[in-house]
Amino acid sequence: MKIDGQAWRTIWLEPGGRSIGVIDQIQLPHQFTTRTLRSCDEAAEAIRTMVVRGAPLIGVTGAYGLMLALQVDPSDDSLAAAFDQLNATRPTAVNLRWALERVRDRVAPLPPAERAEAAQVEAGAIADEDVAMCEAIGEHGLALFQKLAAARPGQTLNVLTHCNAGWLATVDWGTALAPIYKAHRAGLDIHVWVDETRPRNQGASLTAYELGREGVPHTVIVDNAGGHLMQHGQVDAVIVGTDRTTRRGDVCNKIGTYLKALAARDNNIPFYVALPASTIDWSIDDGVAEIPIEARSPEEVTHIQGRSPEGAITTVQLSPDGSPGFNPAFDVTPARLVTALITERGVVAASAAGLQELYGDV
Ligand code: MRU
Repeated sequence: MKIDGQAWRTIWLEPGGRSIGVIDQIQLPHQFTTRTLRSCDEAAEAIRTMVVRGAPLIGVTGAYGLMLALQVDPSDDSLAAAFDQLNATRPTAVNLRWALERVRDRVAPLPPAERAEAAQVEAGAIADEDVAMCEAIGEHGLALFQKLAAARPGQTLNVLTHCNAGWLATVDWGTALAPIYKAHRAGLDIHVWVDETRPRNQGASLTAYELGREGVPHTVIVDNAGGHLMQHGQVDAVIVGTDRTTRRGDVCNKIGTYLKALAARDNNIPFYVALPASTIDWSIDDGVAEIPIEARSPEEVTHIQGRSPEGAITTVQLSPDGSPGFNPAFDVTPARLVTALITERGVVAASAAGLQELYGDV
């Protein structure tokens, strides 16, 4: 996607191949800056502190993190230690484990001297495949949006999204936002309700930033406004991403997603979840019982970051001194509340049969 006319990916191999460039998402939307990650430790720290975030992007960052570790020490012990270090940074998004396993399984059988280069090739392939999958999700989602729009001739299509499942969460295009970008570029009259997404406000800061750069009409709303808008006919569809999708189609996404799905069901509004295959965890069925939910620092709840009138990025305290906070970062929406899954292979029911129909060969 483009920023001020220049095409960007969220992550890239820097010249020389011994460091990784990323967009620093902690500074957005107020400052666009990039960072260089020179070691596995720096890659792990960038994932943990959410300099990079979003399920597909942390997977690619993890893959490059293994490469950086192997460039210093390509031994079996180093590979295992780097794998564990990176895998422990964020527990919910399965893309991280998936990408780490993919690189590890590719390089482990090789002589140590060949491992770093093989890891680089594999990480690059994961990044390129992510772009292709997200663009394909965009095409399938576009067809769906065109049908919804055709049923409302002459009216704006109002879509609500939660968190940031745009190009900043992936390598390019995004998952839930890819169909929106495709629809906008195809000339569809589309408007996006952007949930602010407390506590870290990925909607208000990142989704709004992306949509603004692409010229997509959008409005930021507080997380609790969605149900009200749905009751008053102002939402035609909900579309979100997922950090882990179970074999039977339960989806785990940013905290608050489940409440949007409940409100959508109560108001007969379609609730779509967009995902690449790398988000499916084929080893589990019951998302509520089986997906580990990351608990992040309570300080993300009790404090908030923003820009001061002087232009400095600053953090202020919201709640009284001494009031404890609790910060589960994700929740699970059961498959029964999901109208359809939009994948790179097409649109299917959120069910074991639906996923099997598309990925029976995997
Ligand atoms: O905590 P984050 O910002 O990494 O959470 C991101 C999300 O919840 C996205 O919706 C999810 O990763 C799917 S997006 C491609």
